[in-house]
Amino acid sequence: MIDLQLTDKKHDEARQGEALVTAAPLVRNGRKLYIESYGCQMNFADSEIVASILLDQGFETTGDYKEADVVFINTCSIRENAEQRVRNRLSQFGAEKRRNPKLIVGVLGCMAERLKSKFLEEEKLVDVVVGPDAYRELPQLLNEVESGHKAINVLLSREETYADISPVRLNGNGITAFISIMRGCDNMCSFCVVPFTRGRERSRDPHSILAEAQDLFDRGYKEVTLLGQNVDSYKWKGAATDENREAQEIEVNFAQLLEKVALISPELRVRFSTSHPKDITDEVLYTIAKYENICNYIHLPVQSGSTRVLELMNRTYTREWYINRIDAIRQIIPDCAISSDIIAGFCTETEEEHQETLSIMDYVGYDFAFTFSYSERPGTLAARKLEDDVPEEVKKRRLAEILAKQQETSLFRLQQFVGKTVKILVEGTSKKSDRDFCGRNDQNAMVVFPATAGIKAGQYVNVHIDRCTSATLLGTVVVQEEAAV
Ligand code: 5AD
Ligand code: SF4
Repeated sequence: MIDLQLTDKKHDEARQGEALVTAAPLVRNGRKLYIESYGCQMNFADSEIVASILLDQGFETTGDYKEADVVFINTCSIRENAEQRVRNRLSQFGAEKRRNPKLIVGVLGCMAERLKSKFLEEEKLVDVVVGPDAYRELPQLLNEVESGHKAINVLLSREETYADISPVRLNGNGITAFISIMRGCDNMCSFCVVPFTRGRERSRDPHSILAEAQDLFDRGYKEVTLLGQNVDSYKWKGAATDENREAQEIEVNFAQLLEKVALISPELRVRFSTSHPKDITDEVLYTIAKYENICNYIHLPVQSGSTRVLELMNRTYTREWYINRIDAIRQIIPDCAISSDIIAGFCTETEEEHQETLSIMDYVGYDFAFTFSYSERPGTLAARKLEDDVPEEVKKRRLAEILAKQQETSLFRLQQFVGKTVKILVEGTSKKSDRDFCGRNDQNAMVVFPATAGIKAGQYVNVHIDRCTSATLLGTVVVQEEAAV
């Protein structure tokens, strides 16, 4: 799973608290929905499903919760401070509810499942609590609230994939979109709440995935990111309905799915996240290498560089296994960018084991890393079986060392592009200045360049890279044909 955050601190500047809005539906019921999403890309994609369900009921979205009839907060439980941020935000909504008692406040997603009735009983301001597999029930649950009851549904499902719901695109740039290809996780990493909050792993019907990707492409989108907690274990087996609505028995693994999406058009870029070191196959790597439009970028979380810690984390691979996978990537896709998730200060981690994390970072040379200090989550295997015994200041120091190394490496990796020409997909104007455009290259590096006449979002352009920071490449558009990397 990939978090929409660089570090816990950076989260404040990222997508946290961003109100998600989209065009109004054709038939309106006069009511307004405000929805805010926290945490990973999967949550963001779920918010698009929720919005789609309510837009079908005639709701409009609004970016201002003060003018909303219904306020939803799609929550994240991954670390304690993610939950704390949601609580703070809920108390702001509480103030609004005191002003406007008719306002309906709902908690969705991972915290909903984890804290269930606690929200309804202790935190009186919440009217409706809905877990990640119960979004279809939202219209009925809202009706219950309107008839004066609190409403809750946090049941997890073994089947729900929302395959038939075409998500509305919230805050979209009209160019890049997420597609969920599976839900839940069966891995039981000992630090992680996701298997508890999102339930068992299930894969989505490949035809519905392909139809969604084709529809996006037909509407002008140029990049899709296939999302799953562990995309490498994607497996569809069974009946599927083809374009002619005929049921047939098929078996599709992740490499085959990637290929099918890539074949929609060479103009449609394909990304995916998250890969699991224990499951990523050479077949997937060869598929990436074979298709130019499958981006050369793999998010392959290592979590720790120590085999003993990896075992305690229940990651089911060793340091050597991970290194072997990195070697395979380097051999099969030589210019592939690799990113990681790293946890500092997991239970019983020694100084030497922390050094092993730093040394594996040196070995891989990650282009990018999401780094976290270990936060014990109630109900997880680690919380039940292991002692959270690394002192806070040690965790902090180890995290700072990991971050410092990553910043150096990120800068080094980006410097390799300086002086070269890269092909990028223009996403729109840059966040900092509307006189600049931005877009990503194949390896997922953000490229910023002065807006140039005749160039617009959704176009592929070649940009000559003049310089870089540790996070961004800066360049100028190349007008004449020049080979891009
Ligand atoms: N403490 C710290 N980091 C965690 N992650 C997941 N659970 C925890 C936890 N309890 C990190 C992992 C995962 C990423 C999404 O969040 O690195 O890959
Ligand atoms: Fe959590 Fe591990 Fe599943 Fe990722 S693979 S969601 S870290 S249990």
